[in-house]
Amino acid sequence: MSAADAVPAPMPLRGRRVTLGVTGSVSAYKSVEAARRLEDAGALVDVALTPSAARFIPPLTFRSLVQGEVAADLWDPSAPAEQHVAMGRRADTMLVAPASATTIAKLAQGLGDNPVTLTALATSAPLVVAPAMDSVMYAQPGVQANLELLKARGVFIAGPAIGRLASGGSGLGRLIEPVELAAAVRSAIGRTVGDLRGRHIIVTAGGTREPIDPVRFVGNHSSGKMGVAVAEAARDQGAAVTLVTTQSPPAGSYGIVVRRVDTALEMQETIRKAARGADALVMAAAVADYRPAEAAESKLKKQDAEEPGMVLELVENPDVIASIDAPHLLKVGFAAETDDLIANARAKIEKKGLAFIAANDVTESDAGFQAETNRVVLLDASGEAERLPLLHKYDVGVRILERLKSHPRWPARQR
Ligand code: PMT
Repeated sequence: MSAADAVPAPMPLRGRRVTLGVTGSVSAYKSVEAARRLEDAGALVDVALTPSAARFIPPLTFRSLVQGEVAADLWDPSAPAEQHVAMGRRADTMLVAPASATTIAKLAQGLGDNPVTLTALATSAPLVVAPAMDSVMYAQPGVQANLELLKARGVFIAGPAIGRLASGGSGLGRLIEPVELAAAVRSAIGRTVGDLRGRHIIVTAGGTREPIDPVRFVGNHSSGKMGVAVAEAARDQGAAVTLVTTQSPPAGSYGIVVRRVDTALEMQETIRKAARGADALVMAAAVADYRPAEAAESKLKKQDAEEPGMVLELVENPDVIASIDAPHLLKVGFAAETDDLIANARAKIEKKGLAFIAANDVTESDAGFQAETNRVVLLDASGEAERLPLLHKYDVGVRILERLKSHPRWPARQR
C-alpha cells in the first residue's frame, strides 16, 4: 500500500443529509448509483419513492444501500408516524431524480399524495429536480410551464441531457448521469449556504498544447486533475466557477462553466474575457513558456536529409497569470518544481503579482502531475510557509480556498 492509498477520500457532503425522491421512470436505476455516490461523498441519504418508482426499483434495494430511512408506502404501519415531515425537516437538500412529468406537475401545483411529493412539501431545503421523460413529453408547453414555475421559485433544475431514450430513438429528456446528480446536490447546497456565494472564481487546468503541425504539439504531463479539484471545491462552496481547461469537460462538472482551450494564447484570451468582475484566478494549468514560432499547415514529413534531426524554432509565450490585470482579482499560482522547491516558488510570487502560490514537487509519484493526491507548500509574499500533508487534490483545493477567504485583500462584500 502506498502513502497515497492511506489518504482519506474527500467528503464534500460530510454532515449533510440528503433526501432522494425517486419517481416512476425506467431511468430510476440511476438513482441507485446516485444514492451510493452521495453517501460516498459523506452525505446521509434518506429515500422516498412513489408507488410507480417502487415498481421499477424495490425499496429493499435502497434499504440495503443507504444509511437513512426509506419511505415507500404512506400506509405502512411499521413506518414512523409523519415520516415525510421528519425526512423533509432534516434534509439539507432534496433531490428528485428521476422526476417524471407527473411529479413535476405535482411539485409545481403543491400537491402531496405520495412519499416524494409529501416530503417535498414538508421541506424548506433547496430542491433539485432532475427531469426524465421522452423528448416529446419534455417539450410539451405544460411541462415547460411547470419547470419555469419551479425555477422561478428557486428550484434547481438539473438536466435533462440529450441521448438515448427508453421510448426509442434519441433526444432531449434523458436523466443526467449519477455523477452529475451528485454534483448538482453539491452545487445546490453551495449556492444555498456556501461561503463563496456571490463570488466568481476562474480556475485553469491541464497542460497547454502548442501546435507544431495539425497532428503534433508541444505539451506536458498535466492531466487537469488539480485544476478540476479546485474548481469543484469552489463550486461546492457556492462560487460561480469558470474552468478554463485544455482537457474535455470533466465528469461531475455540473454547475461549473467549462471553457475548452488549447494554447497559452487562447487561455490568456479566455481568462481576460472572464476576468471582469471575477474575484480570484487560480492557475493550476501547466502553461508552456515557449511555443513553436510557426505551426505548419500540413503534417510535417520526415526529411531524408544528410543531417538527421530537425530544429524547431520556439518563441516565448506571455506569462498568462502575470498579464491578467483586473480590479479586485486575487491571483493564486502553482509552482511546479523539480529542485529548490521553496526558493524557486517564492521567486514567482512577486514576479507574477500573486497573492500566494502553491508549490509542488513534480518529481514525486504521489504528487504533482496526474496523481490523485498532492503535497503542496502554500507560500505568500510575507515569507510565511504552510506545509500541507499529502492530501487528495480536492482537499488541497479546499485549503487553497480557505487561504483565499482569509487573505487581507479578499473583499468582505458579496456581489
Ligand atoms: O494537472 P495535474 O496532472 O493534476 O497536475 C497538477 C500540476 C502539477 C500541473 C499543478 O499542480 C501545477 O503545478 N501547476 C502549475 C504548473 C506550472 O506551469 O508551473 P510553473 O512553475 O511553470 O508556473 C508558475 C505559475 O505561472 C503557474 O500558476 C502557471 O500556471 C503560471 N504560468 C506559467 C507560465 C506561463 N507562460 N504563464 C503562466 O501563467
